[in-house]
Amino acid sequence: MPKKRATPGKTSRKSSKQLFESERGFRLLVEGVVDYAIYMLDPNGIVTNWNAGAEQIKGYSHDEIVGKHFGLFYTPEDRAAGMPARALETARRAGKFDAEGWRVRKDGTRFLASVLIDPLYENGALIGYAKITRDVTERQSAQSALQDSERHFQLLVSGVTDYALYMLDPMGQVSSWNAGGQRIKGYTPEEIIGQHFSRFYTASDQDAGRPARALSIAREAGRYEEEGWRVRKDGSFFWASVVIDPIRNEAGELIGFAKITRDISERREAQSALEKVQRQLAESQKMDALGQLTGGVAHDFNNLLMIVTGNIATLKKVAAQDPKAVRAANAIELAAQRGAALTRQLLTFSRRQQVNPEPIDLRYQMEAIRGVLTSGLGSNVKLAIDIAPDVWPVTVDVGEFEIALVNLAVNARDALPDGGAVTITARNTSIAESMVDARGDYVAITVEDDGVGIPPDVIANVFDPFFTTKQVGKGTGLGLSQVHGFAHQAGGTVEIASTLGKGTTLTIYLPRSAGGPTSTATGETATARTQTGTVLLVEDNPEVANASTGLLEQLGYSVRWVPNAEAALQEIENNGIDVILSDIVMPGRLDGLGLARLVRQNHPRLPILLATGYSEAAQNVRTDFPILRKPYQMHELSRALSELTRG
Ligand SMILES: Nc1ncnc2c1ncn2[C@@H]1O[C@H](COP(=O)(O)OP(=O)(O)OP(=O)(O)O)[C@@H](O)[C@H]1O
Ligand SMILES: [Mg+2]
Repeated sequence: MPKKRATPGKTSRKSSKQLFESERGFRLLVEGVVDYAIYMLDPNGIVTNWNAGAEQIKGYSHDEIVGKHFGLFYTPEDRAAGMPARALETARRAGKFDAEGWRVRKDGTRFLASVLIDPLYENGALIGYAKITRDVTERQSAQSALQDSERHFQLLVSGVTDYALYMLDPMGQVSSWNAGGQRIKGYTPEEIIGQHFSRFYTASDQDAGRPARALSIAREAGRYEEEGWRVRKDGSFFWASVVIDPIRNEAGELIGFAKITRDISERREAQSALEKVQRQLAESQKMDALGQLTGGVAHDFNNLLMIVTGNIATLKKVAAQDPKAVRAANAIELAAQRGAALTRQLLTFSRRQQVNPEPIDLRYQMEAIRGVLTSGLGSNVKLAIDIAPDVWPVTVDVGEFEIALVNLAVNARDALPDGGAVTITARNTSIAESMVDARGDYVAITVEDDGVGIPPDVIANVFDPFFTTKQVGKGTGLGLSQVHGFAHQAGGTVEIASTLGKGTTLTIYLPRSAGGPTSTATGETATARTQTGTVLLVEDNPEVANASTGLLEQLGYSVRWVPNAEAALQEIENNGIDVILSDIVMPGRLDGLGLARLVRQNHPRLPILLATGYSEAAQNVRTDFPILRKPYQMHELSRALSELTRG
């Protein structure tokens, strides 16, 4: 139905003068408007008038265009498609034609026009059309730039996969979702849009009301930022870095939240791995420093003990008739032995190499020391030993190995004041982590007790030399230091785990040995025999030399003493030497090892026994020459010498 619009010819009761003035004003207005082309067409589409805006927008002057068909303003394509006629027809039929489209200026350039065509009626008859055209090119390009940028932004946001970028409505329901959200959290947009974002939180965080708190902080402070655990769709956790920004409209009303979540689990893992390595490094540096210190002390201590031990035998012989003196000598001997045992623990801790490593079969070795362990544990404690039948051989210093196990057993006993159970197991394992210097095959030996356990603040110190929680006189704090030193010298490591009130497990890792045990019998094989011959004793400390001479003479040897290697070489040339016993650490150009090598070159048949109270010195010697530990007792010296000369 065509609508009737106000038309210039409409009559009114106003006076004709008023009417005239009003129409003139209106005409001036229309003609003066420059932002709109306002003009009229006759029923056939011929331009009948033209205003300033039309001239400005389309470029034709009034005279140029009046009388021409308005199809002129259309593009050739639109004209060919009959658009001008269709526009008029639509206006007539629908009462209005309202559209945007490309139009052509006089100079041939195009502009985007917003066009309105109204049909004009007079007394029910169509008398023409009013046409208003506006150039909206600029608005359009601004808009399309905006649309482009919005589309690009959309693409950007939805395409980003490293970050979950999404929006929440003011209540916390997810209202948009990007590819990163899907990748990191596992939900598709269909699954998650409309759901509350609290489902990304762990159950305990939900219970604690953290999601709501996050939104209220974001709302009040303008931003919320944190790192924490979040939950994926499959229930797995990841460590997330989260930022929430409130979004407000122009009026300042909250319309939602922008949320950015990043999965930083990897970064966190890398960081904690680094921290672990740093802790291990600091630990091993501390142990090294302590090792050097204790090693130095033990060396001096051993020479002193050697003097004591060596002279006791002489003393006893002299005092044989006086029971009081014999008792005194025995007490000194016991104290010296105890001192020697202590320095030995210290040395094991400080040393980084074993003195007499040999491949052993753990099944045999554990059986061999079962008795010692059982008596060490006492009758209140039950001992179970469980060695895997296929356990690999390991290369260790047997003496140190036994001491380590005794130390662990004694600790377990002390942790079981009312009795309990101790289990020792050995099994094969592969270490992939760089927990030890080299990855690969290891034998894990565990000693487990169900005793009092160790408080968490104490456990970090238990391997430190002299660290003890026991009463004065009860513990020296060297047991675990020895175990630590032993494990590391053997190329392995030691771990401790403990739960207060539940018990403690110590695990020694020893590297799998390439060679099998040479013989299972490592016990006493030397038969006592009379020992004769001349020993060349090379020792820089005269008092130690004196003590050693005493022991050697009691064994039946005659002794020639020299204070250094040079003198020793001269003495050897004088002949008459059957065996050499030399200290390793000596001042001068040549130490005991250099001497031994030289002698082996020039006199390959002359047996050499090296002695040392200090471990570092023993490092390079290893299997080349037998080594006697200072302080040595008569029977140890006897055994070493007879093994040497047995041939
Ligand atoms: N199995 C265990 N159960 C509970 N605590 C233990 C255990 N083993 C070691 N500890 C703790 O570690 C400390 C250090 O042990 P370590 O063997 O080095 O020294 P110690 O036993 O005190 O003295 P000792 O030199 O006589 O062995 C102990 O004092 C004790 O507090
Ligand atoms: Mg102990």
